[in-house]
Amino acid sequence: MQTIVAAPEFGAPMAAANPSAEAVRLLALRRSTSIKLLGPPGPDPQTLEAILSIAARAPDHGKLFPFRFIIFEGEARARAGVILEEAFASANPQAGATELEVERGRYLRAPVVIGLVSRVIRDHKTPEWEQVLCAGAVGLNLLLAANALGFAGCWVTEWYAYDDRVRSAFGLKDGERFAGFHYFGTATEPPRERQRPVMSDLISRF
Ligand SMILES: Cc1cc2nc3c(=O)[nH]c(=O)nc-3n(C[C@H](O)[C@H](O)[C@H](O)COP(=O)(O)O)c2cc1C
Repeated sequence: MQTIVAAPEFGAPMAAANPSAEAVRLLALRRSTSIKLLGPPGPDPQTLEAILSIAARAPDHGKLFPFRFIIFEGEARARAGVILEEAFASANPQAGATELEVERGRYLRAPVVIGLVSRVIRDHKTPEWEQVLCAGAVGLNLLLAANALGFAGCWVTEWYAYDDRVRSAFGLKDGERFAGFHYFGTATEPPRERQRPVMSDLISRF
């Protein structure tokens, strides 16, 4: 099952709400899948484009689009892994061959990996905090879109989202940070429900 919805034209009339039992089910039952349980296939290019376009429809104060995507797929995942390996070796000179192999293979753990970059426009009237929140909303939208289009996914930062060498090798500029990496594929086994908050602990009425 794959339903790709064409993006509306600028100014087209839009529904203020889209009641959908299927959408409620998707949201109510959303669950990440551990990277260990991700295998092929991943989204094809057309589906990936739909996932990214849906994700980019996040609320965005000032319409700044304070985010961007870096796609790692195919053999690029191995090339990117060499960057992680080198950064890891540089930060951990005592690292052994096994550890380095793990780093080299990180992006090979799923068919498609998306680096989600938060891109803050400094000294803008939209506060930095709101720009970062927007990128976070894109991150959740990515997972939801992938799930809705039939793919399992997981959002991680691990160590390399925060490593300056890695950031620079992937071309991040001033004001840019990795919000994380989204690994997408097909679950080799279904995830299980995780602990959820006690909602009454989180809700108050003023
Ligand atoms: C910004 C961000 C970074 C994350 N980084 C990691 C990570 O590095 N490793 C990890 O195991 N989980 C990480 N997670 C959590 C998982 O993506 C996932 O949300 C968690 O396992 C709970 O599962 P759920 O999404 O099904 O509720 C991160 C989540 C967010 C929002």
